[in-house]
Amino acid sequence: MVPELDGLLAREQAVLRETEILRDANIALTENLSLDRILETLLDYLAKLVPYDSANVMLRKGESQFVVSALRRYEGFQDVETTRAISFDGNSNPLLRRICLTKQSVVVPDTNKEPEWQTVSGADHVRNWMGVPLVASGKVIGLYSVDKIEPDFFQPQHARLAETLAARAASAIQNAQLFEQSQHYVAELEARISERRRAEEALRESEERYRELFENARDAIYVHDLNGIYISVNRAAEELSGYTRDEILGRHFSDFVAKEYLSEASDCLLTKLAREGETTYEVEVIAKDGRRVPVEVSSRAIYENGAIVSVQGTARDVTERKQAQDTLRMFSRQLIEAQEDERRRIARDLHDQIGQTLTAVKMNLYTAQRFCSAPEAAHCLKDNIDAIDEALRLVRDLSVDLRPPLLDDLGLATALCWYVDRYEKRAGLAAEVLIELPNQNERFSRELETACFRIAQEALTNVARHAHATHVLLQLTRTPTTLEMIVHDDGVGFDPAALRKRARRVATLGLVGMQERAHAAGGALAIHSRLARGTEVRFSVPVDNPRPR
Ligand SMILES: Nc1ncnc2c1ncn2[C@@H]1O[C@H](COP(=O)(O)OP(=O)(O)O)[C@@H](O)[C@H]1O
Ligand SMILES: [Mg+2]
Repeated sequence: MVPELDGLLAREQAVLRETEILRDANIALTENLSLDRILETLLDYLAKLVPYDSANVMLRKGESQFVVSALRRYEGFQDVETTRAISFDGNSNPLLRRICLTKQSVVVPDTNKEPEWQTVSGADHVRNWMGVPLVASGKVIGLYSVDKIEPDFFQPQHARLAETLAARAASAIQNAQLFEQSQHYVAELEARISERRRAEEALRESEERYRELFENARDAIYVHDLNGIYISVNRAAEELSGYTRDEILGRHFSDFVAKEYLSEASDCLLTKLAREGETTYEVEVIAKDGRRVPVEVSSRAIYENGAIVSVQGTARDVTERKQAQDTLRMFSRQLIEAQEDERRRIARDLHDQIGQTLTAVKMNLYTAQRFCSAPEAAHCLKDNIDAIDEALRLVRDLSVDLRPPLLDDLGLATALCWYVDRYEKRAGLAAEVLIELPNQNERFSRELETACFRIAQEALTNVARHAHATHVLLQLTRTPTTLEMIVHDDGVGFDPAALRKRARRVATLGLVGMQERAHAAGGALAIHSRLARGTEVRFSVPVDNPRPR
């Protein structure tokens, strides 16, 4: 065969082979959407087209950074990890800059002679270099860097082949990058959706739980707006009031609360609107059938974005509690009455029977004294008469303490004056009475007079026993509607809160007894005391207009 023909044939076969490689590369590159696989495929086919010693693909990150993303055959020349870490700034590296601007490949025949060549660690072996841009959608998205250890190896046809491959590879890389990005977005979107779903689920569950609690609560629960119009109530509210939900919603609380409690309920609403916190008060609800239901209401403001939007409250039916309190009070009153009756009886017996018997014995002793002249006997009789006198005095004191006859006969004011007078002498401290009654002889119910007297007795006894006081004042004051008694001392005082704690373990019957008596008489007792600042016991009770007796 003619040698020119031979060359032509060989050339044709080479072109055919290259075309086949490029076709296969095209198929292999478009078959895949994984970026790593595409880069590996690219280096595979590049090796088939351009006999390089080492090569890598750099991808553009951000505006101007080019980072090694896949590499081949560096093992024999370099530490692969060092090469893998190579990245260039496209603005400061002149060759890269040229590639980016011209979008054309650059061949450096001999790196030793190229003034623009910058040696980087990881590519020190490179003598002949070819940089081929990967251009997609008119943008340089990366490049491949093809190396030879001998200078002047790469020829124009190498560059042409590498460029042809680059044109196909670039769009595959771009597709893979878009796919990766979209995968990333999809994953993020899915994560967000499932998080939202979880949040919605949690919200739904907590709403359900709240609903369930709200509906099944034993106490009535309501929400009303800032004007007092109900916007939500539970089943217990229906049961408590006898009205259906529809009959309650849209109506004002004044339609359900007994008139005499309305001003207190409105005050509480104003308090809630003015400051945070819970208010608790008792009112009576008028049920649909006219029944009055005593309830304890606890309510608080509901805020949204820092502003009050409504009021939520619970109303507990306290009928049973009230009944139990009333029963207890009734028992307590009966107990106090029985105790007073008993005291009165014992006082009378002491005075009438023992007192009279002792008096009779004393008379007999006087008679015996008259008829007996023996000095020893006379002495003995005098001793006996003195002993009887002491016994009579004790019996009188005891009977007076048990039930001062003055209280029954002359009334509270006189009995108190008498008692304080006697107390001053015995207790050894200055005691003063101040009676401020329009009518000194005014009488009150026996129960009230007894309660007042017993409270005074206990309070004064406490002063004598515990206060180390120098002065005590008992003050009885009458207004048109109340009777008030104050016992005030200047003694050591005590801490009522600490005492209450202690009282759970050790009963302090004196103070409790005073409270009981005050309640049983329909009044209230307040004790104010501070350490080293004395004590004040204040009993006040509503009374009718004065009535003479
Ligand atoms: N006027 C007072 N001054 C100082 N302490 C007092 C006074 N009254 C009561 N207390 C204190 O309160 C306690 C309880 O009083 P009380 O119930 O009467 O029980 P008791 O008198 O039997 O100790 C007393 O033990 C005392 O510590
Ligand atoms: Mg006492």
